[in-house]
Amino acid sequence: MAQEKSIEKNIDSLLQQMTLEEKVGQMNQYNGFWDVTGPAPQGGNAEIKYEHLKKGLVGSMLNVVGTEEVRKLQKLVVEETRLGIPLIFGYDVIHGYKTLAPIPLAEAASWDMEAIENSAKIAAQEASAVGLNWTFAPMVDISRDPRWGRVMEGGGEDTYLGAEIAKARVKGFQGDDLSKPNTLAACAKHFAAYGFAEAGKEYNTADIGTSTLYNAVLPPFKAAVDADVKTLMNGFNILNGIPVTGNKMLQRDILKEKWGFDGFVISDWSSVGEMVPHGFAEDLKHAAELGVKAGSDMDMESSAYVLHLVENVKEGKVDESLIDDAVRRILRVKFELGLFEDPYKYCNEEREKEELYHEDHQAAVLDMALKSIVLLKNDDNLLPLKKDQQKIAVIGQLANDNNSSLGSWRLGSDNNTGVSVLEGLKNQSINFSYEQGPRIFNEEANFLNEVKVNETDTSGMQEAVALAKESDVVLMVLGEHGFQSGEGRSRTQLDLPGLQLDLLKAVHEVNKNIVLILMNGRPLAIHWEAENIPAILETWQLGSQAGNAITEALFGDYNPSGKLPMTFPRSVGQVPIYYNHFSTGRPDPESTVFWTHYGDEKNEPLFPFGHGLSYTTFKYTDLEIDTNNQNSIEVSATIQNIGKVTGKEVVQLYIHDKVASVVRPVKELKGFQKISLAPGASQKVTFILTDKELGFYNHDYEFVVEPGTFGVMVGTNSQEGLTGTFVLN
Ligand code: BGC
Repeated sequence: MAQEKSIEKNIDSLLQQMTLEEKVGQMNQYNGFWDVTGPAPQGGNAEIKYEHLKKGLVGSMLNVVGTEEVRKLQKLVVEETRLGIPLIFGYDVIHGYKTLAPIPLAEAASWDMEAIENSAKIAAQEASAVGLNWTFAPMVDISRDPRWGRVMEGGGEDTYLGAEIAKARVKGFQGDDLSKPNTLAACAKHFAAYGFAEAGKEYNTADIGTSTLYNAVLPPFKAAVDADVKTLMNGFNILNGIPVTGNKMLQRDILKEKWGFDGFVISDWSSVGEMVPHGFAEDLKHAAELGVKAGSDMDMESSAYVLHLVENVKEGKVDESLIDDAVRRILRVKFELGLFEDPYKYCNEEREKEELYHEDHQAAVLDMALKSIVLLKNDDNLLPLKKDQQKIAVIGQLANDNNSSLGSWRLGSDNNTGVSVLEGLKNQSINFSYEQGPRIFNEEANFLNEVKVNETDTSGMQEAVALAKESDVVLMVLGEHGFQSGEGRSRTQLDLPGLQLDLLKAVHEVNKNIVLILMNGRPLAIHWEAENIPAILETWQLGSQAGNAITEALFGDYNPSGKLPMTFPRSVGQVPIYYNHFSTGRPDPESTVFWTHYGDEKNEPLFPFGHGLSYTTFKYTDLEIDTNNQNSIEVSATIQNIGKVTGKEVVQLYIHDKVASVVRPVKELKGFQKISLAPGASQKVTFILTDKELGFYNHDYEFVVEPGTFGVMVGTNSQEGLTGTFVLN
């Protein structure tokens, strides 16, 4: 409290000394533009940015990394500007800096909040060792559309799970004391509804109703704010006709007023300027005016603020108090990070040398990788495999790839630093033979360009089939390239790219004993595969330790316990398909065509939200619902491990508010617990439902709890479980 007061006093005194130009400078963020170890830039944009830095017209830099670089820029600003206000250095530390954890969607499949928090902590530890103090993560966008490439970066389709993950990630990045040199300020993004881009097409319009906005989209952001997240990023998208960057209702009325958020909002990359092509602002100057009025405090890389805000204020278009408010927020975070005490506190060269790719970090990401694996199918207990008892074939280009498992959004990490599946098998001394089969990709893929898929060249097919024929079991490692998901990577097909399904079918002709090891950044529509292949292991993109984790799971050294955070569709035409949809007026089958269905596809998904098997089996019994307490409903069930090995189960609780003034989804996740059970052991798991779980937001954004009948389900996924009802009075 005393510290907070002194920070506010310091901000007051700084604000009094600052000119309007200097204030606006704090609201300006530039991308790294110059090799700071070389001479000062001459000419062009770089020279302008350099001059702006020296004049105190820059508050933050992004994409400047390394203690040497950060120190040099910080020094320039601290020593050469009039007031010496330190810069804050931001970067996309999404799932690790050098040592990479699984992609965030994969981590979400762990349903393990402690592990996710720890993963963010490790990321902060490494990133803060290279001079960074701010990450543009977590992405907390809910999305129901796997065509959208950025689903890899989020927590999946569900709001409850997404909100829990948002909290865990914020805590992990920020720790309990932001001023420590090994923590980062976090940034919940993209506020809001970017994940509802129409047709899953990148940067596309979001047009959603208030009920979806309030109940599905906003809660993970609210959870992040409640967990004291220091910053939020808005986004590229229009929401119901207004670009979110210029959206006052979201940023001022809800975020800052209603939720009491006291950190700052950064725009997305040039999203202030993009309000011009959106048709919302006339020109860059108008965009600056609209952005600041709507509550976008810092402008990332569109130069709208630095070029036009002073003029806007002088012409009376923007009230200076709005500028003061934005600057106050930005300075507050800088004070909290401890940058005024020591602007170089994140520039510790020793730490930088010691911490990158540290073995403790490798151990932590391996643990996270194991927890992220989902066993989708395992007919006749084909898995786990026995070591040394079978002739094992490994097929597929991805098996021999050190890059793809690193996934997308891994700017700080080095190429080819992931343990491949082949290396993982070798590390465990597993004997196997390998054939690549047809290439999936034609050339080296990178972050900036489209991945080029081989659709025609079948060389390698024959050799792969021949190897499969003479083997006892075939491990088919198939999926997407690491750069086929992420920003700018929407797909209309959700199948295995290129010739992979042809390869799989050809192998299946000669050997049915196949384990399909999937590597992908999004749910896939793999209908044929799910029907015909006996065992399927979803390994997403598991990061630096992928191959080691996959090997442990294949041979039973680790018993998979992940559960899908997003529905897998049977076909792309079902998308968006998600478990917590509303009921239509005609949900049930009829003898005629006049009910909710497709003529050419089932309504059911391929694999439902929450699905994931284990090498053991869990039996659910004794659902009890206790309504005798004043302020809560207690729901419990007993789970028993009736298989032969120890395993972990994510016990899931769903409710259905059957009649409400704004209709509620057919099912909503409202609790989960991950338990570990030895063979034969059982445990009673209890969930407490309070107003928080039982209520919802109405169209006026009021949280209401309405009496009436609720359905309840405790189960192993969103489709199967013990069901009951209770009445809320
Ligand atoms: C992305 C953001 C990211 C920013 C900075 C944008 O293209 O949408 O999520 O933080 O770039 O790299």
